[in-house]
Amino acid sequence: MSTPKTALIIGASRGLGLGLVQRLLEDGWQVTATVRNPQKAEALEALGPVRIEQLDMDDQQAVIALNQKLKDQVFDLLFVNAGVKGPDDQTPGKATLAEVGQLFFTNAVAPINLAQRFLPQIRPDSGVLAFMSSVLGSVTMPDAPELALYKASKAALNSMTNSLVTQLEQKLTVLSLHPGWVKTDMGGEGADIDVETSTRGLIEQVNAYTGKGGHYFVNYKGETIPW
Ligand SMILES: NC(=O)c1ccc[n+]([C@@H]2O[C@H](COP(=O)([O-])OP(=O)(O)OC[C@H]3O[C@@H](n4cnc5c(N)ncnc54)[C@H](OP(=O)(O)O)[C@@H]3O)[C@@H](O)[C@H]2O)c1
Repeated sequence: MSTPKTALIIGASRGLGLGLVQRLLEDGWQVTATVRNPQKAEALEALGPVRIEQLDMDDQQAVIALNQKLKDQVFDLLFVNAGVKGPDDQTPGKATLAEVGQLFFTNAVAPINLAQRFLPQIRPDSGVLAFMSSVLGSVTMPDAPELALYKASKAALNSMTNSLVTQLEQKLTVLSLHPGWVKTDMGGEGADIDVETSTRGLIEQVNAYTGKGGHYFVNYKGETIPW
């Protein structure tokens, strides 16, 4: 029997993060997953043998502490999934400094900070670092002006990821992934696809890109998205 692959999934209490963990367990991976609030980890616990850790990725001290705690582990996949939608009213004149700061910190700055901390623990050559981006982060995308700040925060994530990639010292495959428009708390009931379809496709992309090296912006079906 071959050694199981290992993954660290950030933001797995619900929605796509929870779905990613479920798909990886189905495929025989060994999974470590984080939740902000351990009191709300029932759905994750119910999936089976997952190592659950607490993390609010906006908290730098917590990121350092988790990194220390997991320092002996090597991951085939680090998937930074956590993200927020931002304020209800995203017209620039309505959003407050605190709301915009929170949105950009959580969606763009915190994921890169976390990834930077864990880079040495991603398996050399074959390891994959994945970020949950969005097609709405493509600067060519005219849709959803009512989500202007969210869109900009995902464009910022893509840009920050690009800067990270240019500074990498090891060979690594980096994926900026669009999950589709998915029925979750964030995506809403009217979305196009369910969590299972999206996360199955996302894991297929992780497997397909393993070992390639470089940085790619693709959706859950493997279609390339313009930056
Ligand atoms: N659904 C879609 O159609 C869609 C489309 C494109 C991209 N995305 C992206 O996909 C990702 C997951 O979205 P979703 O639809 O599954 O949303 P969701 O159901 O709202 O779940 C968001 C997850 O992120 C976690 N999270 C938020 N802020 C965090 C922080 N500071 N530290 C740690 N965890 C944090 C939440 O934890 P709590 O439970 O503690 O709040 C939750 O587990 C997001 O990055 C989102 O932008 C979603």
